[in-house]
Amino acid sequence: MTRRIFILLVLASALTGCGLRPAGNTTPLQVHPDMDSQPKFKAQSASAFFADGRANRPAVPGTIAYGHLHEDDVLMTGKDASGNLVKSNPLPVTEATLRYGQERFNINCAPCHGRLGDGNGLVKTRSFGALNPANLQETRLREVADGHIFDVITNGIRTMQPLDGNIPVSDRWAIISYVRVLQRSQLANIKDVPTGTDIKAPDPSATPIPAASPAASSATGTATTSPAASAAASPAKATPTKK
Ligand code: HEC
Repeated sequence: MTRRIFILLVLASALTGCGLRPAGNTTPLQVHPDMDSQPKFKAQSASAFFADGRANRPAVPGTIAYGHLHEDDVLMTGKDASGNLVKSNPLPVTEATLRYGQERFNINCAPCHGRLGDGNGLVKTRSFGALNPANLQETRLREVADGHIFDVITNGIRTMQPLDGNIPVSDRWAIISYVRVLQRSQLANIKDVPTGTDIKAPDPSATPIPAASPAASSATGTATTSPAASAAASPAKATPTKK
């Protein structure tokens, strides 16, 4: 008997605890209020407690959000202390940086500027010329300071939108290093070939190899053919008679 009464009590309290309302009353009967009503401030609400009438407390001056300590102006803005665009990249140029920059360029810039940076990306072709991405191979853009390109990526320029939300700061600098590689790759001449490399004058009947150059190949990490290896390879290459 005592057990049945106990079960009934448990059931009744469970039901009423779930907000059972007595007929005609809109206020739920709360047998167990538990933590339903707590003294607290909701975000952005008013409060008579603080002098400024806001429940939210402003951040203490000088507070820096986690991961947002930006001490290096050159890295963060591409400008030096006097506000001039920095000439060169604050990131050290390493093979890893260039490879990474290449990947990021191909993802973030190539759709508009093309994989060669010549401004002929898919966006240009598909927009029927409505959007005209700059040709990064232009002499002016070869000569601009690295800080300028950083500024363009960060803040956009004319019809190019800012990409600061999409591309983290160090990625921007890696991309800039790679833009320099692309520019260099289109200006290569015979003097760039390391001495001792077995290289022949271009064969006019051969199919042109796009964008192959010492600058580009060192960027992608291709080892320069050693004299021994090329000497071994050349007799074999020379055997098939050319048309
Ligand atoms: C959505 C297309 C688009 C993307 C993506 C884009 N650009 Fe551009 N960019 C443009 C257009 C369009 C212009 C020409 C702006 C103008 O002259 O109105 C331009 C201009 C430039 C210029 C020339 C600035 C000058 O001084 O005239 C540079 C440098 C540049 N972009 C670099 C980049 C780099 C680096 C990336 C990748 C991080 C990138 N852009 C991504 C569309 C794009």
